[in-house]
Order: sequence, then C-alpha cells, then structure tokens
Amino acid sequence: MAQVEINDEWMEAQLGERLLTIARRNAAHIGFYCDGNGLCTMCECRILSGADQLNPPTEAEFVWLPKSRMADGYRLGCQAALRGPGPVRALTRAEELRRQLLAVINPPPGTSAAENLRPFLSNVAMVNWEHIGTFPFNLLRTLNRLGPVRFIWPVNDLNLFVRDTVRITQRMLSGGQPLTVKVVEPPTLPREGE
Ligand code: FES
Repeated sequence: MAQVEINDEWMEAQLGERLLTIARRNAAHIGFYCDGNGLCTMCECRILSGADQLNPPTEAEFVWLPKSRMADGYRLGCQAALRGPGPVRALTRAEELRRQLLAVINPPPGTSAAENLRPFLSNVAMVNWEHIGTFPFNLLRTLNRLGPVRFIWPVNDLNLFVRDTVRITQRMLSGGQPLTVKVVEPPTLPREGE
C-alpha cells in the first residue's frame, strides 16, 4: 500500500499504479482527454514532493513535456507510476489552473486580480508556446508510437471514460466533496532537513 496526495487530499494507492488511475478512482480534478495514452498532456501534474518514489519519465513525457516543465517538477499523470510506497504529493495542472483563475476572479486578501493574472497567463502561455514549437515533430513521433488507430481514437474504454468524466464533474460541482471512495489520513511527513 502506498500513499499519495493529489490536490491536497490523501488517497490509498497500490505500487505500480499511475497517478492518473489514482486520481480518476478518487474523482480528483484531472484532465485525461486521450484516456491515458500520453497524447494530450491534460493529465499533467506538478510533483510537490516524493518524485523519487515514481518511475523515471517515459518516452511520451520526453516527447510532450518541455524540458523547463520537467525541470519544474511536472510529470504526465498517465505516465508517472508509483515504484515506492510514497508519500508522493502532486497538484494536477487542471486544479493548478483552476486555483490560479480563482485567485484572479476572487483575489485573496492582500493580493490584486492584476498581479494574480500573471502566473495564470504565464502558466497557460508557456505550455502552449513550447508545445506549439515542437508540435509537428512530436505528432509524428506519437503517431509512430501509438499507431494510426489508437492515435485517431485513443479512448480505451468509452464507458469508463464517460463514467469518470461525470464523477469528476459532479465532484467539482458539489464543491469538491469526496464521493464514495475512502479518503485516508495524511501520513507524517519528514520535516525539512531531516
Ligand atoms: S491522459 Fe492524455 S497525456 Fe495523459
């Protein structure tokens, strides 16, 4: 049994499980348009701690994640799998962008919408700009990796895809309350310097 925190919520997980699988099971806010095939980058997560408990980056990540993103600790949730018991802490890109946007719409005390707009825009713009720059080459590599059928229709199981999309949307609309899964207590994390 391993322990993973996604978007400030601790969840039980098994060794070998991918972050996307854990997030989907718990209806955590995460994107997965290509259904975990390493094609859309919507499952991107920032690893806040415990990166050494994950597998090394895969070919799909080297193709789609700009070097600067990887240096900042970003992984694809559908490629990053647990190889140790954790703890691992991650923030999904979907949730990170949502929080940054909320800070623009409703600035926390002591901040302004204008200053909060900058990190949101730079997050969106940097990803898009770097992705656009390498897009044609990456597209060909991905086509070669997945094959034409999976490339055109990457969804593995439409029922599961729809079910998880609905569950995540329901949870978002209900204010982020856990659904039916068990949410575990956070483990005791080592303090800095220990
Ligand atoms: S779900 Fe599309 S890249 Fe991970």
